[in-house]
Amino acid sequence: MSNSSLQNKVVVVAGASRGIGLEFVKQISATNNVIFAGARNPSQAKELQDLAKKCENVHPITLDICDDDSIKKAVEEVSQKAPQGIDVLINTAGIAGPLDNATQTTREDYMSTFNTNVVSIARNISFFLPLLQKRGKDHVKKILNISSEFGSLHHRETSGANNMAAYGVSKAALNMMTEIVANELKNDNFVVYLGHPGWVATDMGGKDAALQPQDSVRGLLKVLNDVTVKDNGKFYDWQGKEMKW
Ligand SMILES: NC(=O)c1ccc[n+]([C@@H]2O[C@H](COP(=O)([O-])OP(=O)(O)OC[C@H]3O[C@@H](n4cnc5c(N)ncnc54)[C@H](OP(=O)(O)O)[C@@H]3O)[C@@H](O)[C@H]2O)c1
Repeated sequence: MSNSSLQNKVVVVAGASRGIGLEFVKQISATNNVIFAGARNPSQAKELQDLAKKCENVHPITLDICDDDSIKKAVEEVSQKAPQGIDVLINTAGIAGPLDNATQTTREDYMSTFNTNVVSIARNISFFLPLLQKRGKDHVKKILNISSEFGSLHHRETSGANNMAAYGVSKAALNMMTEIVANELKNDNFVVYLGHPGWVATDMGGKDAALQPQDSVRGLLKVLNDVTVKDNGKFYDWQGKEMKW
């Protein structure tokens, strides 16, 4: 077990039914942490259920981040099982929206992508915040929001990519929201930051992607373990390289 592993923490992952979120649960549960794996339909997430059967530190919970009542219930469940609070909140839940360019994207697609990728991540942080704050000012608390290079103005400029406009707009807004939350919590021993996982072979990334979830998440977890309050508000890729806005 390397020193760069997260150890003895209580962690909540939002969006843990599959893909990058599920891989976070697998790797975090292997290094002596308690993990609450939030999924919209945990009973239908077979790999997550199989993992929970094998690992008593994995707790699948129902969590739809687009529904405040669902988030409140998830917070209550975590509060009961972890009355001392939580150390880390990882927000990986997200949707890709359509491939369309900006002028082709419908109102509905802009709104639904913005709702999941920005507003619902903000609401999830708001509801879980008291459980993070419960750890007290002496503990470092971490919030990782999974963003994308598609939300980087620099990446758009240099790559010339015009597709997935709704997704890109939403991730740029997620970056801004994360910066604002980081400022809000900066005097309370928090590290609130953004991670870009690379292009990863999941349902969203597709099978031709450059990276496997195991490698991306191994890197993202090293960064999560290493960040300190000096990194509050920063944006890193899975290899720990700072991303340009
Ligand atoms: N894959 C890539 O190449 C790539 C690149 C850059 C950034 N990212 C980002 O990485 C994150 C994870 O992506 P992925 O590749 O793992 O995607 P994925 O395989 O499509 O998985 C998306 C996850 O988000 C969950 N989710 C969506 N809406 C939700 C909601 N309202 N409440 C709770 N969970 C919800 C899904 O749950 P259900 O099973 O219930 O649908 C699923 O667990 C996303 O934020 C994505 O934007 C991915």
